[in-house]
Amino acid sequence: MSQPPVYPRGDSTWWTHDRFGMFIHWGIYSIPARGEWVRTWEKMPQEQYDIYREHFHPDRFDPAAWARLARDAGMKYVVFTAKHHDGFCMWDSKFTDYKADRDYVREILDAFRKEGLRAGLYYSLLDWHHPDFVVDDHHPLRDLGYVEPNRGRDQHRYCQYMRDQVTELLTEYGPIDIMWFDFTYPSPDGKRAEDWEAEELLALVRRLRPGILIDDRLGLPGAGDFRSPEQYVPRVGLRDEAGNPILWEGCQTFSGSWGYHRDETTWKTTHQLVSMLIQHVARGGNLLLNVGPDPRGRIDRRAQEALQGIAQWMDEHSASIYGCTAAPAEWAEPDNCLYTWHPGNRKLYLHILEYPVKYLFLPGLADKVKFARFLNDGSEVRFMATPAPQSIMASLLPPGTLGLSLPPVPPPVTVPVIELTL
Ligand code: GLC
Repeated sequence: MSQPPVYPRGDSTWWTHDRFGMFIHWGIYSIPARGEWVRTWEKMPQEQYDIYREHFHPDRFDPAAWARLARDAGMKYVVFTAKHHDGFCMWDSKFTDYKADRDYVREILDAFRKEGLRAGLYYSLLDWHHPDFVVDDHHPLRDLGYVEPNRGRDQHRYCQYMRDQVTELLTEYGPIDIMWFDFTYPSPDGKRAEDWEAEELLALVRRLRPGILIDDRLGLPGAGDFRSPEQYVPRVGLRDEAGNPILWEGCQTFSGSWGYHRDETTWKTTHQLVSMLIQHVARGGNLLLNVGPDPRGRIDRRAQEALQGIAQWMDEHSASIYGCTAAPAEWAEPDNCLYTWHPGNRKLYLHILEYPVKYLFLPGLADKVKFARFLNDGSEVRFMATPAPQSIMASLLPPGTLGLSLPPVPPPVTVPVIELTL
């Protein structure tokens, strides 16, 4: 059997430390406000979709304000949709006229870098506008069949267009830290790695920026620096075939859609969002949390409030996120709690998603903990490891278990965190 190729990797040290990024889906699909797939869901001909291009004049666009919101929420990198599946380019590309009349990519990346965030770009492999992109089962023209609408189309030429644009983005827009390609769908009338000339595209990106991080959606098994589960959190993290943990980043929305969706009411609460962030890190992953700015260029009020909620929590608790990862499996988490672990300074962070009555019991930690305190105010949490025989505590504490004695009223924060120094 032939061995799968071994692909070179980028530099993920900063990324596994930083853990938390902002995804931004913004384009002319923000105008219909029914999600970024609207063109193909509603099978709109190009002429009909063009009305949105005509009316895209974001008069309240303020990337510095977006960047501040992200920074305050504790996000350390941004991934912006330079081009989504509709093919509309948000930068001043030399290779097409189907682009915005302003270089949004440049303005957004500059603003985020100024706030100290790293810069990444999302680039759609699908392109429902490009005349050479072969119509497939995701294309808005799919009902016309795959013969007639594909006359004269040349997927190879489209691949060259992708390489040209990716080269442009990676050479003219300052240091790009992440390239996020989306996506491969190997159904009978879908597209596979070959249809993107993925090997070439990947090699090009590596050559232009050897340290860059690349996602896993080019359809090449074993390629890419990280896996990208979407809209769910892997229960125990992700592992390779030998059982070793692998890098992953969950991408998540506030309410279901990526692009601005005016009428969606399924917004997650602050508690859900903070818990979600913790859950990613507790399972060894990163979180890329998405905002879909509106057609006027503002981040939705609902998203602003959500980000502010996260900011408030992160302000006091980011020590349990940055530089942290999954705790060693031998320490079982108590009910309704999640651990993160900082291997560098040997701190174990206990996140209490539901506050219990009086005690928390931590199996396997009896003689390991030197000190415990709440992160929000730094105050001590008392604990006991070896209760006097015959005492009530002796019956509560199985051998090897550490008992934390909690104040009756929880700290006034979304998710309380206890820092245990080992
Ligand atoms: C999906 C969708 C898309 C979104 C992306 C984010 O595959 O096609 O609209 O941009 O995931 O992960």
